[in-house]
Amino acid sequence: MNAGFERAAVAQAQPNIALVKYWGKRQQTLNLPVVGSLSITLDSIWTRTRAAFDPALKTDRFLLNGVPVGSGADAGPLLRVSACLDLLRARAGVATCAWIDSRNNFPTGAGLASSASGFAALVTAAAAALGLELDDTEKSALARQGSGSAARSIFGGFVEWSRGEREDGADSVARPLLDAAAWPLQVVIAITSTRQKSVGSTEGMNRTAQTSPYQQAWIDTQDADLAEARSAVAARNFARLADVSEFSCLKMHALAMAARPGLLYWNGATVEGMQRVRALRAAGVPVFFTIDAGPQLKAVCLPEAAAAVNEALRDVAGVLNVTQTGLGAGAHLLDPQQALT
Ligand code: PMV
Repeated sequence: MNAGFERAAVAQAQPNIALVKYWGKRQQTLNLPVVGSLSITLDSIWTRTRAAFDPALKTDRFLLNGVPVGSGADAGPLLRVSACLDLLRARAGVATCAWIDSRNNFPTGAGLASSASGFAALVTAAAAALGLELDDTEKSALARQGSGSAARSIFGGFVEWSRGEREDGADSVARPLLDAAAWPLQVVIAITSTRQKSVGSTEGMNRTAQTSPYQQAWIDTQDADLAEARSAVAARNFARLADVSEFSCLKMHALAMAARPGLLYWNGATVEGMQRVRALRAAGVPVFFTIDAGPQLKAVCLPEAAAAVNEALRDVAGVLNVTQTGLGAGAHLLDPQQALT
């Protein structure tokens, strides 16, 4: 066992929101994507996770928002956490089980990327607790195996996750493109439902790949979208980023809607919110929308537009709550004494 072995560590990671979407896996177990993607890491919504390795434990234990997860129908999330811990244990050469206590200050599993922040925080906390000195690229590859989009939450600001070519996934990692402070966009999130999504991203992606007639077109057009978004970010050109982001979002949903049976992640308030955002933009307000595998609407805007965007989305029937966040840092360690809430 490593001499510098620390038994417990606490880490925080924030969700990220893809502007050029990831949808589809080229390999299931390693979570290798069929396309690259580009995202922004958020600031004020987070997952905080304590990982404590305990030789007295016979199995890993997982508390999510204070509730034990791991028996019966709930077993799936614990299995995913344990599989991720196994990768880290193998690197550290230990077999010790762990207590994982994880809190989200936002709804879990409802399209707000809790798995992205969750696995980025888990890898960061568990690696530190095991005394592993991993660089961010290695953490990104490990977080990806927990949940694809978690590869991106290791980094802050604007981030690109490469599709990669290798079978072992070593080149399918994220990298930072631009710091949050270099282009401080705001994100206004309209919560339209707090229910867990009906079809998870893995099932949705697989059904899409097997049945959607648009799958190949999606793959063939992604590189052009990535190049356009990368160059809009480098130039801090909001209008171009707005155009390519809405294009990618609607294309992903069109692809998924054309699966059989079709995947419909939106509700009425999501659609009404999209119309409001477009009306604002037509009136000169710098804002665009994006939506993931759930009904929440995320409106990305320049800071001077945030008040107007907040007001417009609050006014949409069916919007339960509106929260606003800037762009933030990547996954990082917290003081181990830090309370998780
Ligand atoms: O990382 P997963 O398996 O939760 O997939 C995320 C899929 C989308 O959020 C819809 C798109 C993306 O790029 O984040």
